[in-house]
Amino acid sequence: MTKKMTDTFRFRRGLELKNRILMAPMTVKMSYYDEVVTHDESDYYALHSGEVGAVITAATSVQANGKGWEGSLAIYDDKFIPGLTRLASAIKKNGTKAILQIFHAGRMTNSTVLRGQSPVSASAVAAERPDAEIPKALSETEILELIESFKSATKRAIKAGFDGVELHGANTYLLQQFFSPHSNRRDDAWGGTLEKRFKFINDVVDGVIESVDQSGVKDFIVGYRFSPEEYEKPGISMEDSIILIDKLADKKLDYLHISLGKYNSVSRNTNFNEKSRMAYVQEKINGRVPLIGVGDVRTREDVNGVLANADLVAVGRSLLIDPKWTSKLLNGQEETIKRTLAKNDREKLMVSDGAVEFLRDMMPERLVD
Ligand SMILES: Cc1cc2nc3c(=O)[nH]c(=O)nc-3n(C[C@H](O)[C@H](O)[C@H](O)COP(=O)(O)O)c2cc1C
Repeated sequence: MTKKMTDTFRFRRGLELKNRILMAPMTVKMSYYDEVVTHDESDYYALHSGEVGAVITAATSVQANGKGWEGSLAIYDDKFIPGLTRLASAIKKNGTKAILQIFHAGRMTNSTVLRGQSPVSASAVAAERPDAEIPKALSETEILELIESFKSATKRAIKAGFDGVELHGANTYLLQQFFSPHSNRRDDAWGGTLEKRFKFINDVVDGVIESVDQSGVKDFIVGYRFSPEEYEKPGISMEDSIILIDKLADKKLDYLHISLGKYNSVSRNTNFNEKSRMAYVQEKINGRVPLIGVGDVRTREDVNGVLANADLVAVGRSLLIDPKWTSKLLNGQEETIKRTLAKNDREKLMVSDGAVEFLRDMMPERLVD
């Protein structure tokens, strides 16, 4: 049966989406200096919600030293619950569901953002980017505390009224850093072999699922986002990711979410270049868990292109630029979709300078002055 974007979708834990489109997680850097949700931020989410099946929020830190940048969201203390409750209810209009993305930046931050503290990671290896600091390797006790922090974050997300959490294991942040042979050079229980590099992800996923099951809350979902390849040598290869996906697909997760810049991108790995990366991932999953695809989706053809190899479609920049993108597509008004972000529209759409900065890095042709 052909999948359609207008289909409803039910996850394993019972949550139902009104269609197959989700807003991709996008950091807008609008929180206060102390990471509390601003009113502008909840208004921004309200403006971009209501049409899609679900909104996945920006990455939200589970520990104070997991903060990745100024203006980010956080959930490492009960003091964040009132702001996050406002955020969840801003998203939940017209039946749209609210999913909170939770993460720890690991080595992808710096001591200025952390107010003088060093970043932490699996090992004391700096990222390959300009000005990257050498992180402090986490002790075993700190690793166990971190797993507890992901569990506490999940319990707070339930209290704040979210419909689910997405574990951010993509885009080079801490969960990925443990799996990567570049950032994980440990030789204890948490590194050394692929199996041991997976242990942190394994224990976080199991811990979070257990917290949800024990909470007694109905329909609260747990998803996992991953990046399929790293360019560093050593780094995560498609071979590694296929093993990771195989392991995750056997867990009681509600979905897996591949992070890609372009949904139909093909690997440079000669063992995996006969079809798109997403097609290989879907093949490995083999129906065990739903897959969310993403990456430069702009048109109906793109939506159908993702649905050929996934169950759900996440859309980032197209929705940021035109919050009415989904209804225009559903109602056959594709020609009226805004494709570029004009300077004088930024305030009206509440697109922050932080988001514009990201857009400038990733896709400057979508910004017009
Ligand atoms: C402004 C901006 C902020 C982003 N922040 C996050 C984030 O917090 N977490 C995440 O997993 N991905 C983040 N991404 C990546 C998007 O989720 C998405 O994977 C990427 O933009 C490709 O989809 P698109 O072409 O539909 O925008 C961000 C992207 C943009 C443009």
